[in-house]
Amino acid sequence: MGEDTLTLHRYPQDQVSNLQAWDAGDEHLINIFMTEMASSPIAHCSLINDQFGALCCGLSRRFPELAISIQSDAKTSQLGIAQNLLANCLNPKITYLNARAALNQADTQVLMKLPKNLNFFREQLQQLSQSLVPGAKVLIAAKAKVINASLLALIKEHFGEASASLTFKKTRVITAIFDGRVRRAATAKTWAVPEYQLTLTNLSNVFASSKLDIGARIMLDNMPSGDFGSVIDLGCGNGVLGLRAAQLYPKAHIYFVDDSEMAVASAADNWQMNQFESERGHFHWDDCLTHMAQEDVVDLVLCNPPFHQGEAITDHIAWQMFVDARKQLAKGGLLQVVGNRHLNYHVKLKRLFGNCQTAASNGKFVILRAVKS
Ligand SMILES: C[S@@+](CC[C@H](N)C(=O)[O-])C[C@H]1O[C@@H](n2cnc3c(N)ncnc32)[C@H](O)[C@@H]1O
Repeated sequence: MGEDTLTLHRYPQDQVSNLQAWDAGDEHLINIFMTEMASSPIAHCSLINDQFGALCCGLSRRFPELAISIQSDAKTSQLGIAQNLLANCLNPKITYLNARAALNQADTQVLMKLPKNLNFFREQLQQLSQSLVPGAKVLIAAKAKVINASLLALIKEHFGEASASLTFKKTRVITAIFDGRVRRAATAKTWAVPEYQLTLTNLSNVFASSKLDIGARIMLDNMPSGDFGSVIDLGCGNGVLGLRAAQLYPKAHIYFVDDSEMAVASAADNWQMNQFESERGHFHWDDCLTHMAQEDVVDLVLCNPPFHQGEAITDHIAWQMFVDARKQLAKGGLLQVVGNRHLNYHVKLKRLFGNCQTAASNGKFVILRAVKS
């Protein structure tokens, strides 16, 4: 990365992608932080939404004594940061936090990348207002084209006065100063899916807020029949597929897995709200099934895979989900996938499982089934 001579990879490292693991916003933040450190040095700093560790590695290369807290909703970010620290022989004193965990109250400086989801951003600001001391400074990097008066007004409303820097490589850094007024997040709304007698709620960074995804709906309409004893909802979001599985297969244990901690927490909330037996629901914050115990073999995996990572369009996550599903399925077990027809998931499934059948389709989506032989 730039003049730092850091080597940074996206996570996982072997994804086929020509995208880099850092952007000009990272460089811009590090430059501003260096100036701040020259005038008022600090011993601890928190980083929010550092996707693959460009910020963390950049800071710890320059300030090896700096203790760092990393707050992120994505497990792949934590894993990517650890991977890049190791690759660059950096070993800062580091604390990993999920996006709902409180930051260090003594922090006077926080560095943040603006997330794409502004509802999530609003909640992050509200949460910062609950952790930080009055006068604490949050530096927020973003593409210059997304910084406008309404974004600055949103920051002012939920945290404190904000102003934007000059442009550097098409990015700007907003400086927000905490005004000392604590804000509380609104309670998440609940919404009904009457055709399946389900009630759902989503935390702010969860896929498909307050409505069913079209792919999920087709999946719900075409669930496989069978006497399944254990089911994984892989990339569970709010858990709607796994909840439906719990209704249809009343003895099955359901494993909910997602890269987003808020997704896993929402699935757990929804499990409880819909009054399923607690011993049947299992919740894992993970990158696909990386850390699932080998002995947790299942007979059905339901999967509505993502086709992007952050802002990058990619099919490497879908591929990893299919590989991991195959690994976790018992012999004769079934993987059911929904996808946009043009994504050609059937080619991948056929290569991996040696078979693939189309169970349903409409103009845009297909439901595919592959059996582990
Ligand atoms: C298309 S959404 C499907 C959500 C839900 N299952 C549904 O059908 O509405 C894909 C989900 O995959 C999750 N995801 C993305 N990358 C992942 C990864 N590496 N491991 C596990 N889940 C991931 C996303 O957070 C998102 O919740």
